[in-house]
Amino acid sequence: MKYLVTGATGSFAGYAIKELCELVGASQIVGTVRSLDKAHKLKELGIELRQADYFDLESLIEAFKGIDRVLFISSGSLERRTEQHKNVVTALKKSGVEFVAYTSFPNAEQSKSSLASDHRQTEHFISDAKLDHAFLRNNWYLENETSTILGAANQQPIYYSSAEGLAGWALKEDYAKAAARVLAQIKGQKAVYEFGGPLITYGDLAGLINQVVSKPVAVNAVTDEGLREHLKTTPIPEAAIDFVIAGQDFIKEGDLAVSSEDLSAVLGRPVTPLTKGIEALLEGK
Ligand SMILES: NC(=O)c1ccc[n+]([C@@H]2O[C@H](COP(=O)([O-])OP(=O)(O)OC[C@H]3O[C@@H](n4cnc5c(N)ncnc54)[C@H](OP(=O)(O)O)[C@@H]3O)[C@@H](O)[C@H]2O)c1
Repeated sequence: MKYLVTGATGSFAGYAIKELCELVGASQIVGTVRSLDKAHKLKELGIELRQADYFDLESLIEAFKGIDRVLFISSGSLERRTEQHKNVVTALKKSGVEFVAYTSFPNAEQSKSSLASDHRQTEHFISDAKLDHAFLRNNWYLENETSTILGAANQQPIYYSSAEGLAGWALKEDYAKAAARVLAQIKGQKAVYEFGGPLITYGDLAGLINQVVSKPVAVNAVTDEGLREHLKTTPIPEAAIDFVIAGQDFIKEGDLAVSSEDLSAVLGRPVTPLTKGIEALLEGK
């Protein structure tokens, strides 16, 4: 059995490949990368590497030859992302891959979030191609809050504008390990997984951050404009400010309020507690 992970130089893929190595052994794993020059660490793991770009259909068809099961990680580039993803699905079909697990967005089929539409379309490409599949609808990475966590450790107050909106933060490593376990068929398979941690508000998350940092900081619930004014006083670049506010809006609008036990069920253990995750991010893990 040959397993392939796309976007292997990405950080989600890195965790997934490590877990897959434990589960099935490096000799059965292939990773696709855009640039083989950037893949030194992966070479050390002993997996096979193949070059492929989501914009280049022929490179994908070639890379998927002889592969049975694929972990398709959504592109980190939003530029014409549905075109990139359509190419991946076309290549999966043409190469005769038997199963694909795709990293998607919470409640992708019904979600009104602007971030969901690429993922919904990709799920449709996969279903329409009649590929055996699992949609791994990942909730929010705790890593998205790294700057807030590091700031709090440096005595900077926490600001948020997501009001009482709920999200299911979990460590990227937990999502990636679950993805590897689905790919390796460790548990009975479902077609759709809603992966995430317990639903909490940003205020709750701030409380957990304050439990971990040496001296608690003030927590301020503000409007989007209040958050923007605050972020302008920090070193965060203007483009990143828009991204932070968009993230807060997704939470406020309920886009991430999807409750599910799927993540712990597939991991076969509780999701890593957020306080442990916050500690890990403070240690730079
Ligand atoms: N749920 C969440 O909170 C959340 C947050 C952020 C992102 N995401 C999604 O989760 C995915 C994985 O996250 P991550 O942290 O691992 O992201 P990451 O470290 O930025 O990795 C993104 C990967 O996408 C690859 N990529 C970009 N354009 C490509 C193309 N044209 N062809 C092939 N590969 C391409 C990159 O390749 P190179 O190394 O060659 O650049 C990289 O390997 C992201 O791509 C994004 O879709 C989810």
